[in-house]
Amino acid sequence: MAEPRRTEAKNFIQDRPGGYFTPKGIDRQAERHDRDALAQHVRLLGDTVPSPLPRLVTGDATIAPRYRADGPETSLYVGDCREILAKLPERGNVDLVFADPPFNWDVPYTGWKDGMPRAEFERFTYDWLDLAVDCLAPHGSIWVNVPDDLAAEVVMHLKRRKLAMMNWCVWHFRFGHNRDTSFILSKSHALWFAKDPENTRWNGDAVLEPTDRSTMYGDNRTHTKLHGSQGMRVPFDVWYGPYWGRVHSKNSERRPLHQNQLPEVYLERVILSTSRPGDLVLDPFAGSGTTSTVARAWDRRSISCEISDEFAASAWERITGVGMIHQGRSRLSFDQAKKAIQLFKVGSVDER
Ligand SMILES: C[S@@+](CC[C@H](N)C(=O)[O-])C[C@H]1O[C@@H](n2cnc3c(N)ncnc32)[C@H](O)[C@@H]1O
Repeated sequence: MAEPRRTEAKNFIQDRPGGYFTPKGIDRQAERHDRDALAQHVRLLGDTVPSPLPRLVTGDATIAPRYRADGPETSLYVGDCREILAKLPERGNVDLVFADPPFNWDVPYTGWKDGMPRAEFERFTYDWLDLAVDCLAPHGSIWVNVPDDLAAEVVMHLKRRKLAMMNWCVWHFRFGHNRDTSFILSKSHALWFAKDPENTRWNGDAVLEPTDRSTMYGDNRTHTKLHGSQGMRVPFDVWYGPYWGRVHSKNSERRPLHQNQLPEVYLERVILSTSRPGDLVLDPFAGSGTTSTVARAWDRRSISCEISDEFAASAWERITGVGMIHQGRSRLSFDQAKKAIQLFKVGSVDER
């Protein structure tokens, strides 16, 4: 039996930008112990289905990207990511994986049936997750964008693979589809896990934003705290704001063909905070190519996979031709943050 986790102890060193504290109480040893137990005991529905990998990944034939560009090195493979990841020459050297997989929601993708029986879909999910984790360098980390009905399974699977959860972020978007029988869906989960939490990329300073204390209350103390933070702090783990909506038809980032394009600002926050210039970023599900587009703009090398020829051609045109449209949007200026607060009225504002 795993030992019960110790409760969090207060850290009295203001070691985060903005004068915030990093909680120090989570006992890493106990966490590792938990993960060993999980690996042995947790069974998920997808485990009941045999993996198609032995049939899919055959032969010693090497693989080659269909598209490749330099400065920084960028490549796009066309095919099933499970076959590609299994043979990727860069296996073990990837610094960061970002994956936004199909959700099994009957989206009419070209070349992919997005409506499998649940057990098969889970099997597919665990297979590509395993392959992606195997591509990571020892300090590497993985982000997965998933909806409510898959988040728990992805978390449990990554935990039983003995990765450590760094953050469970939520992307809150507006313009969800109306519903008659329950609340409107307005979020997806941005799950960040690291192979080694003590030795992983983290650069919070690259994505600072103004504190509510400075933008809402004009409290000057926040400008004088540690780190010369000037009223800035790392973002919360719930992501929303003026540029964080879904990419609708009026947005200049919008690419025709692609139904599930993520906003550049999302990938910019992920890439800036959890990779370094020159690092290698891998996206198994390119779609419109958002990850490589943003990675290129910020001088990261990248590899993407896409099963559809048509989507891959369009993604490549974007990655190498159109480029990033709104570079720098994940870093709100003081004035932008003030405007955002007026728009969204969040935080503990007394509105009487
Ligand atoms: C949710 S979309 C990704 C959207 C992307 N994040 C963007 O911002 O445009 C998922 C993509 O994965 C592709 N896909 C589905 N199954 C795949 C597989 N087994 N291997 C590679 N690509 C796959 C689909 O064709 C689709 O373009």
